[in-house]
This record gives sequence, C-alpha cells and structure tokens, in this order.
Amino acid sequence: MTIAIDSRHVDSSGVDPRHVDSCIAPAGTAAAGIASAERAPAERACRDAAPGVDTLAVRGGEPARHGYAAVATPIVCTATYAFADSAEIADHFEGRVEREEYGRYGNPTVRAAEQKISALEGSDDTVLFPSGMSAITSLLLALLKPGDHVVMTSDCYRRTRQFLRTTMQKFGVEHSFVAPDDHGAIEQAVQRPRTRLLLTEAPTNPLLRVVDVQRLSEICARQRGVRLLVDSTLASPFNLRPLEHGAHLVLESCTKYLGGHNDLLAGSVSGDRDLMAALRESRGVFGAMPDPHGAYLLIRGIKTLAVRVRRHNESALSIARYLESHPKIERVFYPGLESHPDHAVARRLCSGFGGMVSFLVRGGLATTSRFIDGCTIPIIAPSMGGVETLIEQPALMSFYELTPEQRQAIGIAENLVRLSVGLEDPVDLIADFGRALAQI
Ligand SMILES: Cc1ncc(COP(=O)(O)O)c(C=O)c1O
Repeated sequence: MTIAIDSRHVDSSGVDPRHVDSCIAPAGTAAAGIASAERAPAERACRDAAPGVDTLAVRGGEPARHGYAAVATPIVCTATYAFADSAEIADHFEGRVEREEYGRYGNPTVRAAEQKISALEGSDDTVLFPSGMSAITSLLLALLKPGDHVVMTSDCYRRTRQFLRTTMQKFGVEHSFVAPDDHGAIEQAVQRPRTRLLLTEAPTNPLLRVVDVQRLSEICARQRGVRLLVDSTLASPFNLRPLEHGAHLVLESCTKYLGGHNDLLAGSVSGDRDLMAALRESRGVFGAMPDPHGAYLLIRGIKTLAVRVRRHNESALSIARYLESHPKIERVFYPGLESHPDHAVARRLCSGFGGMVSFLVRGGLATTSRFIDGCTIPIIAPSMGGVETLIEQPALMSFYELTPEQRQAIGIAENLVRLSVGLEDPVDLIADFGRALAQI
C-alpha cells in the first residue's frame, strides 16, 4: 500500500508546519497559589493573558494538526530517518533544516512529549528519558566532574542518594546531606568552592516535607556556579513549578503524576536551552532514549493532568483530615494539614497539596501490616501518582533491606504507611480505611 504524504502541508517529521506556530506556548506565569487554583476558569481567563495549566496540559507543545490531519500526536516508530540526497545531509548537519537523523538522537513523538512538559514547567526546553532514575543519573553524569561537590537535602528518593553514594563517589564527586529546612546548614554546605549542585525534592518522599524552593534559590544565587535542581515528582507541574521560584532545573519521574495511569516509565529534566542541548547530546551517547510508544502514552496521560491532580488534591486532603481525627492513627504527614511543619511554605508555593498521604498507625510493624491487609480498595504496590490508590508500608517495601535502626535513622518508622490517593470515590476509600482500622 502506498501512503501519500501531502508535502505542502506535512514536513518530514510528519508535522504540518502551517500549524506549528499554533502550539500553545509556555505560560511563564507567576506562582498560581492555592487561591488562584480554585478560581473559576472564566474568571482566570479574564485576569491572565497566558494560558492556564488545564489548557497547557491538553494543548501545550503540540501542533493542532499532524501528518494525515491527525489530531492526536502519532507514534513515529522508526529506528532511522531517510535523507533524499547528500545535500540534505549537509543541510541537516549545518543546521539549515531541523529534522531527525537516527533514533538514538531523536524522535518526533518523544520531542512532542518534551515540548508539552516544557509548556507545563515554563522551561526553555526538556529532555525525556526512559525512567526518572535514568533522568537523574544522566543529568548528574553530564553535569559533574571529579572533585565537584553536591549538596542534597535528606529525605530524598533513596535511589538518588544511593547513586551519589556509590557511582558518583566512585568517580570522585563528593556529596553532603543536609536537613531540608536547615537553611543555615544548607548555606554553609554550598559554600565549598567546588559545590556545583544543590539537589532537593519538593515534596519529599515519603515524609512529604515541602522545601522552600524560593529560599534555596536565593542561597544558590549568593554562590557562583551553584545550580538548584528540584525533583518535583510528587507535586507535578500542576501543584508546583520550581523554575518560577528560581530553580535552574526541574526533574520529574513522569512514571508518576504526568503519566498518571501506572502504565509507563519515563523521566524528564527541564531547564535552560544550552544545558538541555548538552544533556540531549549526552543522552545520544549514553543511549538513554525513550521509546516512542511510551512517549505517546505520556502525552495522552498529560492531557488529563489538571483534572486528575485537582481530584487527587481534594481526595487526599479529605482522607488526611479523616485519618488525623481517628484514634487509631498516631500521626499524619500531609502538607495540607495545619499540623504539618511545612504547611505555610506549601500554601505559599504550591497550587495544591498533592495526592500523597503518609501516616503512623498506633501499634507496631505487625499491627500496621494487619491494617494494610484489611483494606480492600487500595492496591498494595510501590509507586504513586496513578488513577489507582496504592498503599505500602515502607519498612516492608521500599526500605525492606535496611535494619530497623537504619530505617529509624532516616525517619522510616515500622508503623509508617504511604498512601498514593487515586481517583476512586474518597467516600469509599474513607469507609474502607474505617473498616480496616476497626479490625486492628
Ligand atoms: C521522587 C522520586 N524521584 C525519582 C524517582 C525515580 O523514578 P522512576 O521510578 O521513574 O525511575 C522516584 C521513584 O519512585 C521518586 O519517588
């Protein structure tokens, strides 16, 4: 079968150039704040010139029309790209035409996902990777040299810590861990002459601390050559856009809220044009190129980001309030509760408090397991950010190989539960928790 491409309207990447300009541009707006996230869309449209996050999630970074007049971004499934003649090769290498050359260096479906994420983060550019960890490891390897020093806030994703402690240390990159709210210690740690990076998470996993990104960016600005990298996976760009608060780089495990359906792995780094160009170049050498099928699923997931995260935020807050009032619950960690140590920071920086709730059940390891086993709606599984509610006891799942003493040293209590609130009816979830708590 011969497939005709109308070359007047569709370029070699399958994108109709007449419509590329109609991509919805990044917002570049100031922090929305909780109150503005709750504003009615019509009211918001009158006040703000830039498109809001709902519009960016659906239309951001994508042309209105693709090859064959398709509305959905196509999956371009090819390992290599054809050149018409030698002159076209020269045009490509000398930058006169923008096109793909080989699948490890670029793919139009992956590019569309990157542009969509840039629109949401408000960044110049984004580089997509096959997982969140691949994004972190590639960025650190591309950015750092032997003798450099990284400051990382504690209570960060344990595999990131492990990578710094093992691989980066082996290559001569030093690191220090500092408490996320100890600004004095952070300021002191970044003053080492070879500090190149302050790496933090907002919110942290699993204790949901919300670092003051703005304060940290001011601390970095007082030093020469120290970049602030925020892993904002738990917030997603719906709830927090760290670049608007002075961060240089933002990282997402797109496996979580951006993908949103527990059906893909991906990771992204967003930042300024030059650094992203260098990172894209490294990706081509490392070979950490995502597959176009995963990129397609990611684009599809992002389209509903705003509606999903708004609902995650609402349900998680009502569940956190319920759990906090329950006599069999010792403590709840949720930034939306007044009792949370970072509630004021979260109110100032975030558009919502997120879909993750961590809590301590009154009792020990076994009682807590009995509670989890008694729940019927949440699925016992690691990960977060999808439509299904997931529940885990970190002492038995993510931190299983540590001793109780090692776990205690990093704040992982035996009776800690981590909940990723999904899109089920929160009334059903609360009833399920009530039944499971009554049984212990
Ligand atoms: C905060 C955070 N960053 C990064 C990652 C790694 O992402 P991935 O599982 O997509 O490699 C995770 C995974 O749970 C995470 O929680």
